Amino acid sequence: MDNNLKHKNIIEAVKEELTCSAHNLDHVFRVYKLCSFIANHEKDVDLEVLIPAALLHDIGRVKESKDNTGEIDHAVLGAEMAGEILKSLDYSNNEIDKIKHCITSHRFRSGNEPKTIEAKILFDADKLDVIGATGIARTFMLAGQFGQRLTSDEETSEYLSHNTVENGRIKDVSKHTPFIEYELKFKKIPSKLYTNKGKEIGEKRIAFMEEYFTRLKEEINGI
Ligand SMILES: [Fe+2]
Ligand SMILES: [Fe+2]
Repeated sequence: MDNNLKHKNIIEAVKEELTCSAHNLDHVFRVYKLCSFIANHEKDVDLEVLIPAALLHDIGRVKESKDNTGEIDHAVLGAEMAGEILKSLDYSNNEIDKIKHCITSHRFRSGNEPKTIEAKILFDADKLDVIGATGIARTFMLAGQFGQRLTSDEETSEYLSHNTVENGRIKDVSKHTPFIEYELKFKKIPSKLYTNKGKEIGEKRIAFMEEYFTRLKEEINGI
């Protein structure tokens, strides 16, 4: 089976798992494009590891969100699911192990740090997709779902004292706002990225967000 056909089969398998959440699938394709772009600026990237990993990285997402126990980590489960699909497509054990490492380590919380260049690129691409213009759009889409306001009247420090519990987790998601999310989470993303190109894109995306949220606050204050 040639590589293009393998990728097509992977996309079909991913679509089947993620069709009930179209935005997840759009995210997968944006991450795939960012991975290809960053890979062009890095040396010795194995695209036969990176491309399948990018396409498969969130395959466990829907299963995680449907799970009420809170025990499923889509990065860990996704790696297992991906392994089965890759086996059926004749990927070698060596390739499968490398792809699985990328998937397990793509998540901040999983505690598994990305060790290979392919895993580092996937990590960066995945995080870059939550910032910049795309990040603003995604955050407001989510804010709409949870009935949040555009900004709150209080400072971030005041907010932190009453709407977060241990580990910075949010108590009441309806009281959260896109601006707070930006202040607490998004701003820190570029410093956590691994590749030079990823960091560069991250800085640009954060500069754009900074300008946007400053302007939003001005408008809310009647300026
Ligand atoms: Fe993910
Ligand atoms: Fe993702």
